[in-house]
Amino acid sequence: LDPVRFLGNASSGRQGVALARAARLRGAQVTVVAAHLSEPLPAGVDVVQVSSTADLAEAMTRLQPEADVLVMAVAAADFTPAETSAAKIKKDGSGTLDLQLTETIDVLGSLSARRSGPPRQVIVGFAAETAKDDDDLLALGLAKLARKGCDLLVLNNVSGGAVFGQPDNTITIIDPDRVVLTASGDKAAVAHRIWDAVVATRTQEDS
Ligand code: CTP
Repeated sequence: LDPVRFLGNASSGRQGVALARAARLRGAQVTVVAAHLSEPLPAGVDVVQVSSTADLAEAMTRLQPEADVLVMAVAAADFTPAETSAAKIKKDGSGTLDLQLTETIDVLGSLSARRSGPPRQVIVGFAAETAKDDDDLLALGLAKLARKGCDLLVLNNVSGGAVFGQPDNTITIIDPDRVVLTASGDKAAVAHRIWDAVVATRTQEDS
């Protein structure tokens, strides 16, 4: 917004860091595109720092051709300030501040639309939903998976602020046809289940 303020959200990046660590442990070459992480990254991963959804889009577009798998665990901002101020925004005595926000690019949707192959790149999205129950979560997830065009979607129910910043996570992974798996536990264990689902998807596509 100005030199001292930005718009952010409650995501810690912990699940993304756990995914990077698990992928390294499995011998993958890993590049993390990161903004405001509250966790240190594991040794041996490449890091690209970004600070906006536009930066994220640019970095991911550049990296996409080299990757076998893309995982979008990022809580990317859906809106960005229409204008940023070069000077700190001051109170003007009116009691309010009007901010105009514009929609950002859907990075995951555009990456899914642009992939080439064979072999087909596997793309994994995340979906943080405030769902009423499991059926509602699944319905929201299937609609989002279709909209984004990715292979797998990792669903989180974030009702009541659950998940963000917590050590544990409960996820449901879906593909366009079915629930692939559900998992619960610390974010390191959940990261390995996500890679299990990716490996299964790659194996299916190879056969
Ligand atoms: N995502 C993205 N670009 C954005 C917003 C989100 O690539 N501008 C990605 C996230 O990294 C995640 C997936 O899209 O993998 C779903 O994010 P989510 O915030 O759940 O969905 P939205 O696209 O914001 O859809 P909605 O507002 O309908 O929930």
